[in-house]
Amino acid sequence: MITEKETTKEMVRTYLVTGGAGFIGSNYIHYMFRKYGDQIRIINVDALTYAGNPENLKEVEERENYTFIKADICDKDAIRAIFQQNEIDRVVHFAAESHVDRSIRNPEVFVQTNVYGTAVMLNCAKEAWEQPDGSFAEGKKFLHVSTDEVYGSLEEDGGYFYETTPYAPHSPYSASKASSDFLVKSYIDTYHFPANITNCSNNYGPYQFPEKLIPLMINNALQGKSLPVYGDGKNVRDWLYVDDHAKAIDLVQEKGRLGETYNIGGHNEKQNIEIIHTIIETLLEMLPKEDERRKLVSKDLITYVEDRKGHDRRYAIAPDKIRAEIGWEPETMFKDGIKKTIAWYFAHEQWMENVTSGDYQKYYEEMYKGN
Ligand SMILES: NC(=O)c1ccc[n+]([C@@H]2O[C@H](COP(=O)([O-])OP(=O)(O)OC[C@H]3O[C@@H](n4cnc5c(N)ncnc54)[C@H](O)[C@@H]3O)[C@@H](O)[C@H]2O)c1
Repeated sequence: MITEKETTKEMVRTYLVTGGAGFIGSNYIHYMFRKYGDQIRIINVDALTYAGNPENLKEVEERENYTFIKADICDKDAIRAIFQQNEIDRVVHFAAESHVDRSIRNPEVFVQTNVYGTAVMLNCAKEAWEQPDGSFAEGKKFLHVSTDEVYGSLEEDGGYFYETTPYAPHSPYSASKASSDFLVKSYIDTYHFPANITNCSNNYGPYQFPEKLIPLMINNALQGKSLPVYGDGKNVRDWLYVDDHAKAIDLVQEKGRLGETYNIGGHNEKQNIEIIHTIIETLLEMLPKEDERRKLVSKDLITYVEDRKGHDRRYAIAPDKIRAEIGWEPETMFKDGIKKTIAWYFAHEQWMENVTSGDYQKYYEEMYKGN
């Protein structure tokens, strides 16, 4: 825990990242250190729920300009103390419960973390940054990381989500994220709070917890386990390589207009079943000839299971605004991103073993009932 204000490195910008031990947060931290090196300082606040994994950050752990604080964003005193003890310039708020299936089983924790936790983050930042005249100290910025799921579901031929698309969330997850977005918008409107919101499509890449589609399929296929597909497998998601998301977040915070929302997407729509076929084909292409696992990987593993309750049919982002105003575009083609992702999982078997032991097993059994 940092106990006193950093005074020696006044030129170094300090980021408070929440949820940095999760999938996107840890990729973002790696991206930021690659880009800025010692020119920034990052304080990562994470409660280390089942989804938070300090192993994701072991390469940066020793850096002098990185600090990890284990704290719950709902713990007002802990968050306030971090703002009091550090001159925070940027907040990048990832911490959330993020898995739709879990939200269907246990919605309350989604409201607690995603809504109440965001309120705590906003309020502590406001308290720390607000000046006596009600304005905000120069250069302070809060970025709220959100999802395209707040916009609801599109028909198969039903256009795209724009920043102006009305919110229509369906799952407890997306409803809680929508509520948190509205809270941020209310701070912008009421206090002129210096914030941005980003609504991003589905991410994939290294360090993703194997309850999510892509790492689940990679992990199961390599073990010859069934590949559970919801419903008819034709639900469409727009997939973005996680580094492209990290870059977009940084650009929005540096170049975006304060108070604005930016949609981030890959223009890379795929049916779930297509993704699974691509994973199987890519695994077979990448596994060395002598690797025993080649015998296990097969399309026969695909098993259709009862559809997710309230399963949204299609999500598709129109990233026109971020392209026009900020110049961001997705850089990683899906065929390259999926290879990079699979190569990462090949090189990190121990990581996968560690995260799939213990509680994950119990969860998996309950979710897919022996499939
Ligand atoms: N994964 C995606 O495809 C995707 C797409 C768009 C937006 N998002 C959003 O991006 C953010 C990060 O998503 P992710 O996939 O990395 O999630 P994740 O589940 O992998 O990570 C969430 C992190 O937040 C931490 N956390 C959870 N509750 C906390 C609490 N009360 N206090 C402090 N830390 C807590 C967890 O320990 C974990 O490290 C979320 O806000 C999510 O809504 C995700």
